[in-house]
Amino acid sequence: MPADVTTPDFSRRRALWTLGGLAAVPWVASAAPAPTGVPAAAAYTLRTGIARQSVAGAGHPDTSVWAYNAVVPGPVLRVRQGERLSVQVVNDLPEETTVHWHGLRIPNAMDGVPHLTQPPIAAKGGRFEYSFVCPDAGTFWYHPHLRGQVQVAMGLHGALIVEERESLPVDRDVLWVLDDWRLARDAAIVDDFGSMFDAAHSGRIGNTVTINGVVPDRFQLTPGERIRLRLLNVANARIFALNFEGHAPYVIARDGMPCEPHLPEGGRILLGPGMRADVILEAMHHAGSSFRVIDDFSRRNRYEVVALIYGDGASGKAWPIASRLRLPQNPVPVPDLARAERHVVTMSGGMMGGGMMGGGMVGRGMSGGSIWAFNGESSTDEQHLHAPLLTLALGQSHAIELRNDTAWWHPIHLHGHSFRIVARNGRPLARPELVDTSLLPPRETALIALVADNPGDWMFHCHVLEHQATGMMATIRVA
Ligand code: C2O
Ligand code: CU
Repeated sequence: MPADVTTPDFSRRRALWTLGGLAAVPWVASAAPAPTGVPAAAAYTLRTGIARQSVAGAGHPDTSVWAYNAVVPGPVLRVRQGERLSVQVVNDLPEETTVHWHGLRIPNAMDGVPHLTQPPIAAKGGRFEYSFVCPDAGTFWYHPHLRGQVQVAMGLHGALIVEERESLPVDRDVLWVLDDWRLARDAAIVDDFGSMFDAAHSGRIGNTVTINGVVPDRFQLTPGERIRLRLLNVANARIFALNFEGHAPYVIARDGMPCEPHLPEGGRILLGPGMRADVILEAMHHAGSSFRVIDDFSRRNRYEVVALIYGDGASGKAWPIASRLRLPQNPVPVPDLARAERHVVTMSGGMMGGGMMGGGMVGRGMSGGSIWAFNGESSTDEQHLHAPLLTLALGQSHAIELRNDTAWWHPIHLHGHSFRIVARNGRPLARPELVDTSLLPPRETALIALVADNPGDWMFHCHVLEHQATGMMATIRVA
């Protein structure tokens, strides 16, 4: 565990500063030959276990967490685009787990879904080796796909950065893993998982927001510097709408996929659980000034996530204009909308003002523990999945209309593919977004389109992990 996280001598400022710059990861094993094809360029071992770490920050007790390599978030895994990543997972937890590689378009057998793509990794000593070539550059992440609403909340998550062949001209490449914890007064994680109240509403929202595993109080900037800031929301349920007061952060990628550089709509970077945004942050103010990063997703409950504090010095470099900074496109096939096969997925369930929709039952697939459904069917764990929700013909273009027929927000995630959001509420988008998770506001619709080019049975679920665990989970077959 990095000393900065736990040593009380270090101020929180120091801890965040150090964690903010992506330090070299000390867990890199020697490159081992991969089973087939491209040899592994990057090889890691991830060992799950129980650890203690300062989450609430200075002046508070440490928190008992579940961690990869004894630190939350887990180590940043780095690999270059087109290269093979091999990860040996050793499970020292008292329960089974798996690791899913969120957003990566990799073979189905490496996708980390228990009972669907692999057997669970046994408790207390089980092992599994993941090995795959990373086709796309960008900001991705990894997390368990077994009892995720507990395992992810306990601290099992980390970033996976696939580097472009040529790096962007910036002073610093910084990662903010945004998380939300429900902590008791003694900084212990409250053990109230499985609450039906949480599940039927917005999910398990916590009371403590962290960046890179610790409550931050400041993030230091040097006047004139330019930062590539990678934002990743690993919270079970909290949706962030980040407002960088006094700054103009250009969004250059969503969910790992490059986009036309643009200022976020309404000045807020909206990040549902599982989602990422890469932004160019220019430190345009003078030494000694300070600004706030505000989360105003809930307009009645705005709060400061972190302060931006300008130190002395100057970057002194003349960078090209941020709006002209473009990342090279990833090789994601473009769907042909005119020929796309049409499908509809309707979300239902959850609490409405007076009670459950439809008198407590949302569809024929409902059983104990189900609150939500896709097209009337609920699956509550990967072991008991229903027949595929949709079957998409391999190699063809498909357009899926997502209808949110509930009173809640849902970040809907598909494995194994990225897709384009081409319309919202029936209106075509001027700038279709290429993503792996589509955040749907209550009562809205989104039309997503993709080429189904990756064969297999793929998870399709809400990334509010309590919604997933209570029915908002299905598979989509590509064959
Ligand atoms: Cu973040 Cu099913 O995934
Ligand atoms: Cu949901």
